[in-house]
Amino acid sequence: MNHFLDIHTTEKAALRNMLDSAQSMKDARQGRTKAAPDNEQPLAGHMVALIFEKPSTRTRVSFDVGARQMGAETMVLSGKDMQLGHGETIADTARVLSRYVDLIMIRTFDEDVLKEMSEYADVPVINGLTDRTHPCQVMADVMTYEEHRGPIAGIKATWCGDGNNVCASVMHAAAQFGFDFTFTGPMQLDPEPEWQKLVRDAGQSFKVERDADKAVDGCDLIFADTWVSMHDAQSARERRHNMLRPYQVNDALMAKAKDDALFMHCLPAHREEEVTSSVMDGPNSVVFDEAENRLHAQKAIMRWCLGV
Ligand code: CP
Ligand code: NVA
Repeated sequence: MNHFLDIHTTEKAALRNMLDSAQSMKDARQGRTKAAPDNEQPLAGHMVALIFEKPSTRTRVSFDVGARQMGAETMVLSGKDMQLGHGETIADTARVLSRYVDLIMIRTFDEDVLKEMSEYADVPVINGLTDRTHPCQVMADVMTYEEHRGPIAGIKATWCGDGNNVCASVMHAAAQFGFDFTFTGPMQLDPEPEWQKLVRDAGQSFKVERDADKAVDGCDLIFADTWVSMHDAQSARERRHNMLRPYQVNDALMAKAKDDALFMHCLPAHREEEVTSSVMDGPNSVVFDEAENRLHAQKAIMRWCLGV
């Protein structure tokens, strides 16, 4: 069963094929209206369930539109409106949904929910974000980098801020696609040691550099993300802001990277917090291309899951 749970647990060749397929589907749609169905309808006759236990704009809309472009029908479900949110086990939910739908995408809190869902479902399950990882986002990010600058292999990427779920998936991509990774942020928010080891074991450089200026010096790609993720307690907001303020991506920091360094953010962004508007809207920013490429990358992920 082809579940898409994480980048580091998916074969390299499969990841590369997904990106190629995403790019050709994107190219094939050039000049067409957004609502137009793809010429090929590989998901015709399929039903896709999209379950959200947390808010979402991009993931919700891009999966829904992508599935429909490929001929599928979709249902968007809120975890709290399902019996899942009222005591029914994940295993039973997975068994029941598998009798109705062909593919399940779930955005949830604890990674164990995703794992249990994939263990008991008879249909493929896709990780639409957990507290720990966000692989669909980073597949779109790799696609975006390569569209603008060519192969991502061998580049130097720097993550600024919180070593969170998106950071983890970027580190998985560093290991699988072969690029070097530097983390700059406060010690309390370092990425998990398991992911640090994963990057190093893959033969890539993994560095922690507390000085943001030094961390981005000569790098090709800078990432930022919100300082307070959906799974973080709101009571920690002020403390996090105080710790993370030195890691804001602004014009002065961008100037330390290569002239043609790209800026990425998964969005939603908090302008003038983790990134200034001057960078978000500046010439090096590709944040809206990343958002668009969620659509194309996830279409390829869905096709891979279903083998169509
Ligand atoms: N980047 C991302 O996953 O956005 P949403 O939370 O809007 O889905
Ligand atoms: N780190 C963020 C990503 C949102 C897409 C969060 O988990 O809230």
